[in-house]
Amino acid sequence: MVLDTDTISQQCLPKHVAIIMDGNGRWAQARNRPRVFGHKKGVDAVRQSVQFCTKLGIESLTLFAFSSENWRRPEDEVNTLMELFLFVLSKEVKKLHKNNVKLTIIGDLSRFSDSLRDKVDSAHELTANNTGLQLNVAANYGGRWDVANAAKQLAEQVAEGTLRAEDINEERLAEKMCMADQAQPDLLIRTGGDVRISNFLLWQIAYAELYFTDTLWPDFDEAVFAEAIACYVARERRFGCTGEQIKQLLAQT
Ligand code: FPP
Repeated sequence: MVLDTDTISQQCLPKHVAIIMDGNGRWAQARNRPRVFGHKKGVDAVRQSVQFCTKLGIESLTLFAFSSENWRRPEDEVNTLMELFLFVLSKEVKKLHKNNVKLTIIGDLSRFSDSLRDKVDSAHELTANNTGLQLNVAANYGGRWDVANAAKQLAEQVAEGTLRAEDINEERLAEKMCMADQAQPDLLIRTGGDVRISNFLLWQIAYAELYFTDTLWPDFDEAVFAEAIACYVARERRFGCTGEQIKQLLAQT
């Protein structure tokens, strides 16, 4: 089989990449700047990652932007993150739309302000029919919340008599989880040096390859992303290709 970028894109590359974007605060502190400076810089890394996934033809990219536990951070930082989300939703969505990206925010949005929820609704509406990269941004998301939320929906169906308790199985539950309409993540990347999942997609990453890098999120660029993908491909070895070959091919894209 000829090894070209098309073959690699279609057969070897992960269909769905999920990323725990960690290290913004430390990146800023290392520069004697406030932590929020790191979050702002982190938006550039988000942009680059979206562009890279689009270029490679990856189907879904899921980013952990704000966990259900992040509310415990200092009020100032939480407020700045909310403003940043609003800003990104206002400024970037048109660009995403132009690039055929479909944006979906996953998580419990009930705790967000009305203006943020309105922006989320408009972004969903604007990009709903796009056929390019599916970009999922996890906000006030927790893996345990996702499972509990799915269970609650099934319980409601049982209560209203449209589902029998004995018919509940993994497939039924999976249908109610976030991103049920998408391929499950093949590759989970965590930046920032910690080696844990932090209540991210607990159900969906059951079979994902895990990749941890010390790179802090604001420094996460195409080269580091390509390294993670090369590592994933080498682990999969579907065409017996090596990480080096993939890196070379990715460099040509
Ligand atoms: C983790 O770094 C990062 C976050 C909690 C926020 C991530 C948000 C962005 C990158 C900007 C907005 C993105 C989108 C998609 C709208 P940390 O603060 O935990 O870093 P630390 O571990 O060094 O303290």
